[in-house]
Amino acid sequence: MRKKLFIPSVLAALTLGLLLILPVMASRSQSIPQAMAIAPVIAQSPAPATPTASPSLPNASLPNVILLATGGTIAGTGATSTTTVGYQAAKLPVESLISAVPELKNIANITGEQVLQIASEDMTVEGLLKIAKRVNEVLAQPDVSGVVITHGTDTLEETAYFLNLVTKSEKPVVVVGSMRPATALSADGPLNLYNAVAIAGSPESVGKGVFVSLNDQISAAREVTKTNTTSLNTFQAHDMGYLGYVELGKPYFYRTSMRKHTVATPFEVGTLTTLPQVDIVYAYGSNRPAMLNAAIADGAKGIVYAGVGDGSISVQLEPAAIAASKKGIIIARSSRTGSGRVVRNGEEKDDENGFIVADNLTPQKARLLLMLGMTITSDPQKLQEMFYTY
Ligand code: SIN
Repeated sequence: MRKKLFIPSVLAALTLGLLLILPVMASRSQSIPQAMAIAPVIAQSPAPATPTASPSLPNASLPNVILLATGGTIAGTGATSTTTVGYQAAKLPVESLISAVPELKNIANITGEQVLQIASEDMTVEGLLKIAKRVNEVLAQPDVSGVVITHGTDTLEETAYFLNLVTKSEKPVVVVGSMRPATALSADGPLNLYNAVAIAGSPESVGKGVFVSLNDQISAAREVTKTNTTSLNTFQAHDMGYLGYVELGKPYFYRTSMRKHTVATPFEVGTLTTLPQVDIVYAYGSNRPAMLNAAIADGAKGIVYAGVGDGSISVQLEPAAIAASKKGIIIARSSRTGSGRVVRNGEEKDDENGFIVADNLTPQKARLLLMLGMTITSDPQKLQEMFYTY
């Protein structure tokens, strides 16, 4: 009797045990942060130089979005899950960024491509041109709906504005990054990427210029700037504000940026291999002409002066700026304040000295526009008109 009962009771105990253990195992595997789960891929997958096929068969009812990866914190890894400073940017390849967000397949067919793998402070003119040319190539494909570029946040706004000036398509281009590396607790990269793909695949995003999206917000490339060293809410458009929000896989727009962009600019990068050298000279009290002169001696054809207040130039530096302008170096006055317009013939005699003003562009964006403008003209009046147009 005792023997007969033994086998069924063992089976019952095993079944009960499995029933209790399986849900725990399932919930444990779900509770591993996605970025941590993909960590082994880091060592095994070097960044590919060529396009990577979409991991699943395309769904004809979804938009086709190309993900161009360039590095940054969104592809960064830290030693531990609490390493939110002192991590290494630009480590994860594009496949890992995509596989960390399986929900992407619900909103788009994604194809990833590793264009660069750098921390964005290392961005170069050549890097900008490489990204821009690839964006134009992929957007020229009729079946592509939009492009997402993953990028380090430090110079993200610069690449975004550059693309805003040189992309020859009305299709959406979204530049996205993250403030926390992929391995961090509450990493912001996966949701930022999901949101960026949602924006890039939406018909509502067409014709509005290049976007920057982090932290559930959508900003115009021309207007947005990084304002905080570590905050998730670092990207702000100061006087202008956001264009809208992105929620539950859908963008909500409330306004557009008014300046001309993309197909409405004359800037073509297709045949360019470099750009005219333009450097930024920063103003401060007790300013001296040393940095201005050094930039010119180094070959600068244009100088963006990040002036105090309304782009004011000190009496100590002004003679060197006027002398440079008379020699054909373009001097563009901007402001180090971070917002507001620099008014022509306000603090300086711009007409008389041949200076131009950067309107409300930050110095770093004024540099990009001046470099592109100088591929077309060196006439200060025509360059000035560009600053009022783009
Ligand atoms: C970088 O800009 O590449 C590093 C910082 C960041 O992405 O937040």
